[in-house]
Amino acid sequence: MHRLDIATYFTQNADGERSPSELTDDDLRSLYGYPSSLDSPWVRVNFVSSIDGAVTADGASAGLGTPADKRLFAVLRELADVIVVGAGTVRAENYGGARTDGVMAARRTRAGLSAIPPIAVVTASAALDPESRLFTDTEVPPLVLTSAAADRDRLARLREAGADIDIVAEHTVTGPAILAALAVRGLRRILCEGGPGLFGTLLRDGTVDELCLTTSPQLLAGGAGRIAVSPTANPTPMSRAHILGDADGTLLTRWVRAPRD
Ligand SMILES: NC(=O)c1ccc[n+]([C@@H]2O[C@H](COP(=O)([O-])OP(=O)(O)OC[C@H]3O[C@@H](n4cnc5c(N)ncnc54)[C@H](OP(=O)(O)O)[C@@H]3O)[C@@H](O)[C@H]2O)c1
Repeated sequence: MHRLDIATYFTQNADGERSPSELTDDDLRSLYGYPSSLDSPWVRVNFVSSIDGAVTADGASAGLGTPADKRLFAVLRELADVIVVGAGTVRAENYGGARTDGVMAARRTRAGLSAIPPIAVVTASAALDPESRLFTDTEVPPLVLTSAAADRDRLARLREAGADIDIVAEHTVTGPAILAALAVRGLRRILCEGGPGLFGTLLRDGTVDELCLTTSPQLLAGGAGRIAVSPTANPTPMSRAHILGDADGTLLTRWVRAPRD
């Protein structure tokens, strides 16, 4: 056991001064780079929780966010080919399309990515509102990953609203079916932004390579759930890749799946 006492800060201190160990966005892009020359999908999952494990504050993740978490959230989006999210989160958080600016788009293009990562929504029900921001506030069409059992009329309405619908399974949408559908489109650098139901599915199916977990410096209690939910436990050993801290107490941890025997 070791004491991890080499602090690395994300944000400037209260006087606006840079600490010598403050990380720049270039540092973050390098610390969180996907493995180079990926020939199969790499699934990174990103969550924020309270110290006592709550995944929401007042029903949304926004109340848990800190400046460091928001900065990392943006950097992780910039590095991804696609942002995958469960329909529960899209509904709860009124998801819109990812944003970019000219400089970021140019950096992405130089790195071999599209200018803007699409949002891919996983849903069994296809119960998404065609008038919601997912369809009306986006520069690229959202991708809807669903099964042949989804309601045809709903799917037709989502298609009319601009969605790219992909029936990835006959009945149950599994982790491998999601990854296969994305790989066909050349989308291998996957960023899953939750929520707990989708994370549970991906863990159940052994399809998670990495977890970036921010611990927000607050205790909440209450009835909020945790970051992964599935009917049965699925132990997945992970190795610690790094731990970063910010002056406000935020901890940013990166965990990578331990090599299989
Ligand atoms: N703290 C954080 O970092 C964070 C991150 C994300 C979300 N959240 C919070 O988490 C809450 C939402 O939780 P949630 O568990 O409902 O989120 P979720 O995982 O985003 O949504 C669950 C829904 O996703 C779809 N889904 C998931 N796995 C599927 C599969 N294998 N096949 C087909 N569809 C699948 C289903 O949609 P249908 O019902 O449409 O079939 C399911 O009901 C919200 O309050 C949100 O704010 C927090």
